[in-house]
Formats: sequence, C-alpha cells, structure tokens
Amino acid sequence: TNDANHPGGAAAAAHDSAFLRACRGEPVPYTPVWFMRQAGRALPEYRALREGTPMLETCTRPEQVVEITMQPVRRYGVDAAILYSDIMVPLKAIGVDLDIVPGTGPVVAHRVRELSDLDQLRPLEAADVPYVSAAVGEVVRTLGSTPLIGFTGAPFTLASYLVEGGPSRDHTATKALMYGAPDVWHELLARLARISANFLRVQVEAGASAVQLFDSWAGSLAPADYDAYVRPHSEAVLAEVGTLGVPRIHFGVGTGELLGSMAAAGADVVGVDWRVPLRDGIERVAGRAVQGNLDPALVFAPWEIIADKSRSILAAGRSAPGHIFNLGHGVLPTTDPDVLTRLVDFVHAESAR
Ligand code: CP3
Repeated sequence: TNDANHPGGAAAAAHDSAFLRACRGEPVPYTPVWFMRQAGRALPEYRALREGTPMLETCTRPEQVVEITMQPVRRYGVDAAILYSDIMVPLKAIGVDLDIVPGTGPVVAHRVRELSDLDQLRPLEAADVPYVSAAVGEVVRTLGSTPLIGFTGAPFTLASYLVEGGPSRDHTATKALMYGAPDVWHELLARLARISANFLRVQVEAGASAVQLFDSWAGSLAPADYDAYVRPHSEAVLAEVGTLGVPRIHFGVGTGELLGSMAAAGADVVGVDWRVPLRDGIERVAGRAVQGNLDPALVFAPWEIIADKSRSILAAGRSAPGHIFNLGHGVLPTTDPDVLTRLVDFVHAESAR
C-alpha cells in the first residue's frame, strides 16, 4: 500500500529476483547469495561512516542507514540487501532503557523478573519508528530489482537480553524465569511477539519483500522446552507476517535439533548453521527452502578450501525446493571483504553451470 508495493514499483521488480524465487521454491537461473551481517564492521567504508556515532543513533538516521545498507550490495554484488538496524531497535523505540556498548553488545538497564517489569513493554506502532519506514522506502527505491530483507529479533532472543540485562553464554537467569515463573515468561514472550510482528509489518509496508526472524540464541534450548516455552510465540510472529504475503526466513545458531520445529513454526525458509550438514538440514525441514551454511570462519582458509566447501554446499542445496547460499552466522569483523566478493562470483558461476 505504498509506492514500493505498487505494480511496476520496486517491489514488483524484485518479485522475479533469484532470491525471492528461491524463497518460494521456484526454479532459479543461479543460486542467490547474501551474508548475514554483510553491512557492518568488515567494511572499511562502514567503519569510516560510523566513526563517532553510537550504533543505535546511526539506526535512527535514514540517510546513513540507506548508505550502510547499500554498501555490501555495491561491493559484493549480493542478491539481497538486509536493512541496517539491530534487534534492539524496536525495544529502544518504545522506551526500554538500553544501550549498545562497544565490545559488549546490548545492555538493558532494568532486568525483567516479575510481571510489573513488563510495563516497559508497551505495543510498538509505526509512529514509534518513522526513521525505519523512511529508510526502508528509500533503500527499496535505490535497490531497484534487488530485494530488501526486513528483520526482527524473535521473542526468545529478545527476552534473553531483557532478562539477563546483556549478552549471556548460559542464559541462566532466562531459564530460571522460564521454569520458575511461567506466567511472567509467557506474558513477556507474548508482548515481545506483538512488538516483533508489528516491527516486521512496518518494514514490509514500507517495501521490504522478505523478512528474517532472528532467534539467534534459541539453540541453547532443549527441543521439548523450545516447543513448550518458545515456539508458540515465534509462531505468532510468523503467522501474523504470513498475512503480508512475503517469504519468512527463520534462523538460529546451534539449532540442529530444533530445525524441524522452527520450520513448523511457520517458516518458508529455514536458516541452517554450519554445524549441521546442509543435506541433513534439508531433510529436517521437509519441504521448506533452506539458507546457509558456510562456517563464517572458513572464509579465512585458503581459497581452494573455500571453493571446495562452497561447491559441496551448492550440491547439497540442489536437493532442497529452494536454496539461498549464506554463511552459517554473521560475517566476522576481521573478514577480508575481497574474499566475500570472490565467493559471490563463485556461487553465481558454479550454480549457473
Ligand atoms: O557489524 C556490526 O556488528 C556493527 C554494528 C552492530 C550491529 N549490532 C549490527 C547488526 C553492533 C555493534 C551491534 C550490537 C549488537 N547487537 C551485538 C554485538 C555485536 C558484536 O559482535 O559486537 C549483538 C550480539 C546484538 C544483538 C543482535 N543484533 C543479534 C543477536 C542479532 C541477530 C543476528 C545475529 O548476529 O545473530 C542482531 C542483528 C543485527 N545487528 C544486524 C545488524 C546489521 C542485522 C542482521 C544482519 O545484518 O544480518
């Protein structure tokens, strides 16, 4: 319902892109490729632009967001852009007291322990994030036929920051709340699900033509606990986005045992990390497209090794209804950008044969 989504607009041009065709499980001329965290610290032009501005402030400046989002598209020739933002942006936008501390990550002032702590989580409306709508609209116009992926954090991963107060290895406070106060837990995740669904809606209405739900830390959960305490809430997000008609990618790290459940939660595409052979991942998500799954550290290996591994991943990907080549998690900060450029060319050439 805006310019970007009108027939003949940018979103219509993106509709037949290799990326969106692969998401829908349609035949493609070559395997599309993009990289999680492609916009960011690995790029010198990004570091130059960010100098002196806090990360979360950059996210509220559409002009800079557009430029940073475009940088990896120009440099690498990837088949999709992902909006430069962070999973904490919608929470900051509704007034949650949080910061991104360089070298640490997201830090939240008031940890969630009881129902009254949830007062800080009011619903998010489009009016809370005008800079996101503005940036998405301008990115989509600039991209032309290259699709833009919108994204949000999944309820569990967002909850882990709110409960721990920051990054966590073991998620002990998160699990203590989950098991010890299930009423608080489910209300927390239900509120986060609404916020995430609305944040995705804002991006799609502004022109994003696919979305990714990042449940980065869901891999810390046993499958039965994922199903009981987490999946219903991710399912709510994906179901609501399903009404918008764009493909939904669902991703987490270390989720080998959860892939079937994450697919069934309502994903069109399931992200697979490098710990799971792609062929096994494809079997576990029965009938869905997959995204992945080169080890992000593998791009530091000699080129012939990178090429061999990528060739195997492309071969495995042929047994899926759709395959989007990606790393198994984000681009590491010290990655050589020239290797990623070469990798994009390789994926395109190798898969077009
Ligand atoms: O390139 C950069 O990392 C610099 C900019 C930056 C982002 N987030 C961009 C981002 C910074 C400093 C952050 C803070 C942050 N937020 C961290 C610490 C990052 C670090 O390594 O220092 C973390 C862990 C978060 C929380 C977060 N943000 C998660 C768990 C995710 C999901 C993706 C993932 O890595 O698991 C995000 C999303 C995110 N942060 C994106 C970007 C550009 C979008 C996803 C993408 O581009 O693929």
